[in-house]
Amino acid sequence: MTDALSPQTQTTPGGVLSPPDDDPTWWRRAVIYQVYLRSFADGDGDGTGDIAGLRQRLGYLAELGVDAIWITPWYMSPLADGGYDVSDYRAINPEFGTIDEAQELIREALGLGIRTIIDIVPNHLSDAHPWFQAALAAGPGSPERERFWFIESDEIPTHWTSPFGGRTWTRTTNPDGTPGEWYLHLFTPEQPDVNWGHPDVRAEYESVLRFWFDRGVAGVRIDSAALLVKDPQLPEVAENPGPGQHPWQDRDELHDIYTSWRAIANTYPGARALVGELWLPDVSRFIRYLRPNELHTAFNFDFMACPWTEPEIRESITMTLAAHEPVGAPATWVLSNHDVTRPVTRLGRVDTSFAFEKKQFNVPTDAQKGQRRARAAALLTAALPGSLYIYQGDELGLPEVENIPRNKLNDPMHYQSGGTDPGRDGCRVPLPWEPDGSSYGFGPDGATEPWLPQPHGWSSLSVASQKREPHSMLSLYKRAIRLRAEDPSLRDGDFGWLELGEGLLGFVRGTDFICITNFTAQHVPLPAGNAVVLTSEELVDGELAPDATAWLRRTTAAAATTPIDRMWERQ
Ligand code: NOJ
Repeated sequence: MTDALSPQTQTTPGGVLSPPDDDPTWWRRAVIYQVYLRSFADGDGDGTGDIAGLRQRLGYLAELGVDAIWITPWYMSPLADGGYDVSDYRAINPEFGTIDEAQELIREALGLGIRTIIDIVPNHLSDAHPWFQAALAAGPGSPERERFWFIESDEIPTHWTSPFGGRTWTRTTNPDGTPGEWYLHLFTPEQPDVNWGHPDVRAEYESVLRFWFDRGVAGVRIDSAALLVKDPQLPEVAENPGPGQHPWQDRDELHDIYTSWRAIANTYPGARALVGELWLPDVSRFIRYLRPNELHTAFNFDFMACPWTEPEIRESITMTLAAHEPVGAPATWVLSNHDVTRPVTRLGRVDTSFAFEKKQFNVPTDAQKGQRRARAAALLTAALPGSLYIYQGDELGLPEVENIPRNKLNDPMHYQSGGTDPGRDGCRVPLPWEPDGSSYGFGPDGATEPWLPQPHGWSSLSVASQKREPHSMLSLYKRAIRLRAEDPSLRDGDFGWLELGEGLLGFVRGTDFICITNFTAQHVPLPAGNAVVLTSEELVDGELAPDATAWLRRTTAAAATTPIDRMWERQ
């Protein structure tokens, strides 16, 4: 890696590293690669992925063609929830590296044209955080406890259910051994929720934002973004709470917080993006967070959870684009992340939708079908307007690892469900880089075993093997990302549906780019007058196979004068 700053980076007069200022709308169409740091690459051989490993592999990400990386929490943390339990927001967990290495990484990535987005976790912190330790030590009624939700009560204060399953309150013990106050934690007991009504909390997270923007990060992914504010009356959750009436989700006061964050982001050069993790079924509520003075974008979980059927995918895309239009925000397209089942496995199942409540052990899947559909889905999503998220390993077609020995499972979601939910470890298994070696090149050969065991048989899925294979998932992703960046229609072109008949999903971007996905069980002819740009499966006698996507470009004069939606009829 070069020490010198490339022309892609700049340093402000105060010496602060900054992403380039030349494209203030980069986040509207960026390809963003999610790095689950613990499982990406282990540079020091301790079995855990780290910044050193990521720095060694930046060349891979540059070759893949991504515009940005989003790194899951790298802060000081006891790792009770994989780092989403932060004990110091301004320090790096020594297992992952140091603050200097973090800065070097941001700088080197910028040198390769890759921006860095980091995770910020504002709903809760770790029980090891000095604030919480001080609150425990100071006792009931102390100002230190006001930064949290401590409640004096004989009974559990509410019966709210944690997104991880189980209760959301834990009772403390007084120094004399008697039961003390309860404190709120929407997730694990090791993740106490902070009180966003307290001025210290607001000031602290704004300062953390500035700390990282000053170090050159191009954006933040906001964890649990809809959960920060609670109804101070702490009522039970009503059966069907009206808009903004849920006691701990999507409360109207959140918008004021994000307006302040946007104002902070706007003071920095180089367009620093705020990306919300918002699981909200009501799209009219979801979209309010994307108004021009709030968040830049938010994850599209409706699409991510959508079953693999033509009408439902069409409906999800239509609804997404229509909802974003009035606020002028770009859509995002996400096939998976570190919390959900890998696409290759999900899409090979009978039920291809995703829902946390449905996760269980031993759900059968058709691996081949899953691969085909994941390839088709990759091309389909890469052709849609907006930004694209790729979760590490999806570009290799990694399946969910469903046979991790129970005693190796790490995820609190598994344990908090009483062991019925397999948890999220299956999509977090360390990446295979090489076909051989003790950890497929995740760490140095012969080093400490990876923190989660890798399955046998991943040689052919490794990066090195797939690089050599022109039809591999990796080669498909690479070509798709390159074309997406180079093709003006794909970059900025308008979107329009094609009506191609039952089971066929087709759309146009710009004047000449066409994407068609075949959801039927038959091979189908492609419309005449177009050049084939890229397909997820080889064409058979010019026909598109079931569960495959084709990218086409209009070429002939005839095609140029024929409305695209009539080209099919001319066969
Ligand atoms: C969402 C994150 O993606 C997940 O991994 C984490 O467990 C919860 N938020 C709690 O921070």
